[in-house]
Amino acid sequence: MNRLALLTQALSSLQSWLNRFPGSDGGAAVQPGESGDADQLHRQPSSGEMETVLTELVRRLEGNYPFHSPVYAGQMLKPPHELAWLAHSLTMLINPNNHALDGGPPTSVMEKEVIPQFARMFGFTEPVLGHLTSSGTIANLEALWVARNVHPGKGIAFSDQAHYTHERMCSVLGIPSFKISTTPAGEWNLHELESIKDRVGTVVVTMGTTGAGRVEPLHELLPLFREMGLRVHLDAAYGGYFKLLEGTGAIDPLPWGWTGEADSLVIDPHKHGLQPYGCGCVLFRDPAVGRYYKHDSPYTYFSSDDLHLGEISLECSRAGAAAAGLWATLQVFGLEPMGRMGQVMQYCRKAAVRFADAAVATGRFVMLEAPELDIVVYAGVPEVGARTLRGVSAVSERVFRRGMERGADGVYVSLYTVPASQVLNVMPDLQPDAETVTVLRSVLMKPEHRDFVPELVRRLESLL
Ligand SMILES: Cc1ncc(COP(=O)(O)O)c(C=O)c1O
Repeated sequence: MNRLALLTQALSSLQSWLNRFPGSDGGAAVQPGESGDADQLHRQPSSGEMETVLTELVRRLEGNYPFHSPVYAGQMLKPPHELAWLAHSLTMLINPNNHALDGGPPTSVMEKEVIPQFARMFGFTEPVLGHLTSSGTIANLEALWVARNVHPGKGIAFSDQAHYTHERMCSVLGIPSFKISTTPAGEWNLHELESIKDRVGTVVVTMGTTGAGRVEPLHELLPLFREMGLRVHLDAAYGGYFKLLEGTGAIDPLPWGWTGEADSLVIDPHKHGLQPYGCGCVLFRDPAVGRYYKHDSPYTYFSSDDLHLGEISLECSRAGAAAAGLWATLQVFGLEPMGRMGQVMQYCRKAAVRFADAAVATGRFVMLEAPELDIVVYAGVPEVGARTLRGVSAVSERVFRRGMERGADGVYVSLYTVPASQVLNVMPDLQPDAETVTVLRSVLMKPEHRDFVPELVRRLESLL
């Protein structure tokens, strides 16, 4: 059965529940007006009008880059799995709100069911406190807000590889932030942290950096941070699902072995977890931090004495459909290393390894580093006469623009700015005429990328 047939079938089953209530006409509460301008304004749009708008929408949507296709190997973008799409769309017909059990009883239960699955995956000892959020940004904001409450007056430290959201959210929260520099290989300059440790309460470790997909060495850092008396928050918004590959030999297992020791963790199901946007997740190892969320609401929590998710989250309204999409996906894909989700991650990881081998084999590209997950950072070798750092940037810009111009026959990559030293490391003979260099970056986060790699590299080479 195709996805439309599945949706139609599920819609008609749900319709019989909807029909048991008055005014059930497919979600349109407003009935056609009888006469007069005021009524006309509120008139139910005709199917003709809706069709016209949808036709125009399709025309506009075609202005997107082809995020669904493996020719798109640019940023962290891909459509959700169709099961998530179906579950999400179906639930939207009711539009429950997971802020409170009053707003979405079944989808709140689904959310409460998925949280322990993530907790177990990361090795947190249950019970934990956790919930979904609308994004990785909000999930991290909550973790930093809890960090501030646990250590009032103290700041947050993170490496210069961390997502910019940490610095920004510290400023939102009015707490000091400390950016620790790293070596070109990504090692933390720990003496910097040592010198300010009395002013720090929590350190953020990124498991899958946004730029290069690096996994910061938690196995080395966490014991040191504990000795310094610091809390540890893991930003696994991007890399979290790679935990499934810990025991498979496909990635370095060492950092992943320590995730269960962290105080809090963020993972984004709307990145690798096959979900539409609007699905982040935050977990806290100590459920007692729930006390910081305590608030009174004279209008919200009446239908049940059970925990309402709004009582343990900073956001109020939140899509119950996001929980339904994730719950449905986990029913089929699971979170087991050898299960379907593990396979998805294997494919992405293999795509990156194959890409690195194939790109280097052309002799026209150089990898800036071996990929740790499924993000590759590379540069085109500049021609004789342009063997400078600026020459490398010019090649990157050319590949980026020409690839897009070719549309379906092209390739969509992203650009990434790195310090000159990172390029000189791999091409030491280049003239150092710039402090930073624009290089190429590809996020190979679609399983389809694995088999498309030879064609991807062929297309890239043709752009040089
Ligand atoms: C490591 C990391 N943290 C946080 C974020 C922010 O997440 P979101 O875009 O879901 O708000 C991102 C996004 O790319 C990320 O890669």
